[in-house]
Amino acid sequence: MKTILAVETSCDETAVATVNSDKQILAHEILSQTEHNKCGGVVPEIASRAHMEHLSSLIKSAMEKSNLNFCDLDAIAATSGPGLIGGLIVGTMMAKAIAHVVQKPFIAVNHLEAHTLVIRLLYEVKFPFLVLLISGGHCQFLIAQDVGKYVKLGETLDDSLGEAFDKVAKMLSLNYPGGPLIEKLAKKGDGIRFKLPRAMVKRSGCNFSFSGIKTAVKNLVQELRMSEQDVCDICASFQECISDILLDRAKNAITMAESLNVEINDFVITGGVAANNFLREKLRKHINLNIFFPPNNLCTDNAVMVGWTGVERLQRNYIDPLNFAPRPRWGLESY
Ligand code: KG4
Ligand code: ZN
Repeated sequence: MKTILAVETSCDETAVATVNSDKQILAHEILSQTEHNKCGGVVPEIASRAHMEHLSSLIKSAMEKSNLNFCDLDAIAATSGPGLIGGLIVGTMMAKAIAHVVQKPFIAVNHLEAHTLVIRLLYEVKFPFLVLLISGGHCQFLIAQDVGKYVKLGETLDDSLGEAFDKVAKMLSLNYPGGPLIEKLAKKGDGIRFKLPRAMVKRSGCNFSFSGIKTAVKNLVQELRMSEQDVCDICASFQECISDILLDRAKNAITMAESLNVEINDFVITGGVAANNFLREKLRKHINLNIFFPPNNLCTDNAVMVGWTGVERLQRNYIDPLNFAPRPRWGLESY
């Protein structure tokens, strides 16, 4: 059995976990930097300072909760990209330092691979499978062929889906992160009141574009008096629009996978936006594949996904040198 200590610091969550190859989560520590709420987004400099401040105490607490000494570990993993460079340096350096002191392997984890593979900690999902990764930083379809082996089918041409949620929320004077608040208010709204543009729908391929929807919402905000009901109706109409786009794009992604002669049975939808229940239900209802979502707390950023990816990589002997440099831009195809 292999046990991994994992660190996640690529954005504004400082997270630490211990995970083993028996699929046990021994500790799961997470600290969100809520102070960004006031700024309406993540401030990279504040984020990296906060990682510096909290990371060592979270590691101490994770090790105590899992009843482990550093010498009991089989490897130390950190998210080394993509993400904000300051945070990536903090987490990667900490993991390397521990690895060096206890003479255990270091594993540089790609954040997107972590979002993708965490599903295999929970369910028997076998390669190859289709992935829709919808987070604050990314929006793409992939075929996961194996650990470290991905084919990108399509991606956003402008904003990520999480960004679209956050920017629309900001226009509606809602706090950051906007996704969960939009989901909550949409429950009280009329999803067919406003017809927002379904960009890219009916076009070939599975790319996305969300900038037109943002502009449409901006115009609505200027036109309306913005009663509480108006806000709820915009939230519901926005989710309705996004669900139509995701469905159309997912159907094309499935056709694209088929045309590559890849037999896909399982479809994994992951990343922060995959926590949205409205979108989950819509996709489950209309897509004829086995759909898997991680539970909400493993959809949004966490270190369990990094630890599990560490396990999968260690099992294949994919370890990294201590001079591995963090990669703020790091596509899954460039492994
Ligand atoms: O995966 P994640 O935690 O961080 C990145 O890797 O980017 O995703 C964060 C994003 C934010 O944009 C947030 O608004 C969105 O996920 N999000 C949601 C929901 N929960 C989080 N979007 C829609 N509905 C939700 N329930
Ligand atoms: Zn993420």
